[in-house]
Amino acid sequence: MRKCRIDLEVLKKRRDLLKEKISSDGDSVAFILPSNQELVRNYDVHYPFRQDSSFYYFTGFEEPDSLMLYRPGAENEFVLFVRPKDPLMETWEGFRFGPEGAEKEFAADKAYLIGDIDTKLPELLKESEKVYYTFNVHKYFDSRFLGLMEKTQKSKGRGATRFADILDPSEAIGELRLIKDSYEIDCMRKASQISAQAHLAAMKFTKPEVNERQVESVLNYIFKMGGAAREAYSGIVASGHSATTLHYNFNDQECFDGDLLLIDAGAEFEYYAGDITRTFPVNGKFTSAQKSFYNTVLEVQKEIIDMIRPGLEFTKLQETTVDFLVDGMLDLGLLEGDKKEIIESKAYKKYYPHGVSHFLGMDVHDTGSIQTEDGPRKLAEGMCFTVEPGLYVPLDDESAPEEFRGMGVRIEDDILVTEGGCENMTAMVPKEVDEIEEVMAQAIENQL
Ligand code: GLY
Ligand code: MN
Ligand code: MN
Repeated sequence: MRKCRIDLEVLKKRRDLLKEKISSDGDSVAFILPSNQELVRNYDVHYPFRQDSSFYYFTGFEEPDSLMLYRPGAENEFVLFVRPKDPLMETWEGFRFGPEGAEKEFAADKAYLIGDIDTKLPELLKESEKVYYTFNVHKYFDSRFLGLMEKTQKSKGRGATRFADILDPSEAIGELRLIKDSYEIDCMRKASQISAQAHLAAMKFTKPEVNERQVESVLNYIFKMGGAAREAYSGIVASGHSATTLHYNFNDQECFDGDLLLIDAGAEFEYYAGDITRTFPVNGKFTSAQKSFYNTVLEVQKEIIDMIRPGLEFTKLQETTVDFLVDGMLDLGLLEGDKKEIIESKAYKKYYPHGVSHFLGMDVHDTGSIQTEDGPRKLAEGMCFTVEPGLYVPLDDESAPEEFRGMGVRIEDDILVTEGGCENMTAMVPKEVDEIEEVMAQAIENQL
């Protein structure tokens, strides 16, 4: 029997916290959040459905064509609009909860049919002075939402004064999702662990002449065997100079002896993302040029992880990464000149064009702003993010030492901020040169 995958008390607590954030001045407020829709892939076939992260965060409900209405303090505070039960459709596509199931299994105070929103929603919004809704996320619903607001206004009659204020809840939701509760931390650790096991298996599997696609299939096999529902994002399996393409996605080339292989992949466990990158030699042994290039990135990555503790400004991670990586670029002979000038002119972006970190959670690039009302974001216990410095030298870059041309290295781990510092949740995947070489030598021996 299908049921809600999250403890109902956990979901209620999240809605209560949202209440605190959006109803501070006593006005009557309503919060509207649509689900994701199914998307057609090709004739009679849909893309695999994945619920919207925030919708799932507050409801635990995994069906498309649904809508949450949350009215803090109202008689029916938590309302869901859902698809009808439909024996014929359920025969083809599987079980639906229907309104009754939504009340029973998801603790909706009231559930209605999604087909009834045009009549029900205006009735339920009549008293609301502020309505929270984010435009441009569920675009399919934007004009419908405005139509419903107009209908609500008309239904108030001639005495009605003004439209309810429409406000964006993104920041409030972002702040909530940024700090993980204990259920979420368990899921993050599990997503990290499955992702780590998959990277280790992929490292052991790799040898000259395997195809990137075969390596990708090892990752995906371990993800699902470990209990993940899916990849957290399209994995990158990039051998040779393809590693210099940041979002390389073809994953279809042969891996050659002497090249490096960059894998950026993560599992999604109960809607929480792992996001790991490792770069290692296809044949299991670094050349001396690969080693010095790789260790430049590795040393920076370890220094950044060592800095992490509550109270540190998030932007310090990027600033320090740039500072250290520019030293590395000068040492490797990729750049010449004055360090300060290189940083100010951003000349380093030629070889390091991205950020060192993003928040991590239900979305691989998770909610949470870098600037807050109170100034720059400071790290706090319960935040999760990546640390992922990299160096990429285009194949045709004639200004770079020849031995580094076409080389791309990124090293990425998933970090949880703890009371006294941080926990590297993906530390179990080897990243020291000798560790990688040992693991791969043993694996190749076992394959022979
Ligand atoms: N895998 C996406 C990223 O590392 O940001
Ligand atoms: Mn990342
Ligand atoms: Mn990544």
